[in-house]
Amino acid sequence: MSDPVRSLISRAARAAVFSRSGSLRSRAARAAVFSRSGSLRSRAARAAGFSRRPLGLVLGLVLVLAGCAQDAELDTFQDRSETARQINDLMYPVLIVAGVVLALVCGAILWLAVKNRVPADKDYEGEFPTQVSHNNRLEIGWTIGPAVIMTVIAVATLITHVAVNSTEANAIEVQVDGQTETWEPRVVVVGQQWWWEYRYYLTRDITTEDLGKLGEDADWELPRADIVTAGQMVIPTGQEVELIITSRDVIHSHWIPALNGKKDAVPGLYTPWKLEADEPGVYFGQCTEFCGLSHSRMRMQAVAVTPGDFQDWIDAQMDEATMPTDEDTAEYRGMEVFTNYCASCHLVTGLNDGDYNGAETYSGSAPDLTHFAGRTTFAGGLFNLYNPDGSLNDDDLAAWIRNPNDVKENYADDLPEGSLPRGMPDMGLSERQISDVIALLATLGPRPTEAQILATEVE
Ligand code: CUA
Repeated sequence: MSDPVRSLISRAARAAVFSRSGSLRSRAARAAVFSRSGSLRSRAARAAGFSRRPLGLVLGLVLVLAGCAQDAELDTFQDRSETARQINDLMYPVLIVAGVVLALVCGAILWLAVKNRVPADKDYEGEFPTQVSHNNRLEIGWTIGPAVIMTVIAVATLITHVAVNSTEANAIEVQVDGQTETWEPRVVVVGQQWWWEYRYYLTRDITTEDLGKLGEDADWELPRADIVTAGQMVIPTGQEVELIITSRDVIHSHWIPALNGKKDAVPGLYTPWKLEADEPGVYFGQCTEFCGLSHSRMRMQAVAVTPGDFQDWIDAQMDEATMPTDEDTAEYRGMEVFTNYCASCHLVTGLNDGDYNGAETYSGSAPDLTHFAGRTTFAGGLFNLYNPDGSLNDDDLAAWIRNPNDVKENYADDLPEGSLPRGMPDMGLSERQISDVIALLATLGPRPTEAQILATEVE
């Protein structure tokens, strides 16, 4: 080693070793404080110290209290299903162990720092601190301790992982168009920019294997389903419902924290997952994989209802839309607007199912609107379709139809030549056309009850 290098290393070593030393410390402190004018700096430091302390306290309090909301929609601590409880039964002990380890490590660091504080009047110049090495008891302890903790956590995690990922949905009997069908509760969940589609196959059995054979070429065209909804998935209570999760464009992630953890929606993959709700209720969810402009506005709800109410819901969903026949009505004009502007993307069974061939969007898909008015949210679970008094929220609906990009960003307008929109484009409708098409939309599907409207309200 050359001399200059050696001297550099030894200087660095000294600096490190003597960081405790009074002379170095005080020199550094002096340099910092007196770098400009001593009095000015210290006054500034005092001022900063006084104003920062309460600010830090307030910020800390806000952070802590923010975790205490009782009605937080995406609160993982409020488990409402067996699966969510299994996840929390793992999380709580791990949090406690991690907390104890954190307290021990931080406590030891603080204790050692205070214990070995340098007295202000002592000068260590030229002195070496006592050198310590090879403490066998300590070394064996901090090797075996963490290994045991990690092994226990790993085994517990594996057990929970298997439990959460195993599905054993019991078949239930449902009435479909007057016929009794044995239904393995299974819903195909499809993510696309930026909404969720839920497909129910009641009269035929669809498995992950069946869908897996479709591969990535399946595109939007999954096997024809009996019921197709958007944004809201209705499930019967006390019943494990198997999900098959996929995507039509980019990777999304399905997450309804009160009922289960997250599962990615990957194009071309059909991933099994499950949900189960103990009690009737509305469970909020959010896409949790960054998927483009409106990722944060890709929301959903699981609406759990009693088995009886679930049958009523099926009955309503199996009805085709009835089209207006009186030419002098807004609904009739709305039907013409729909046929001219909306039908190239949206399906309304009973109106354009004869020649519907997928949506002219990147994903090849747009929400099925056959029972639009039977849902309580629209535009990816973002807006309320009804006001709390039960009237249609036509302000938000009109704003969405007038120019979707104004209320929910998407890559729909000003696209390069030849590329398809991701999200809903501005169709350039007149105000008259907008109110007419809203009049038609309001007739599609049965009106939800006031209780449903209030329970599913989004902010
Ligand atoms: Cu879909 Cu994020």
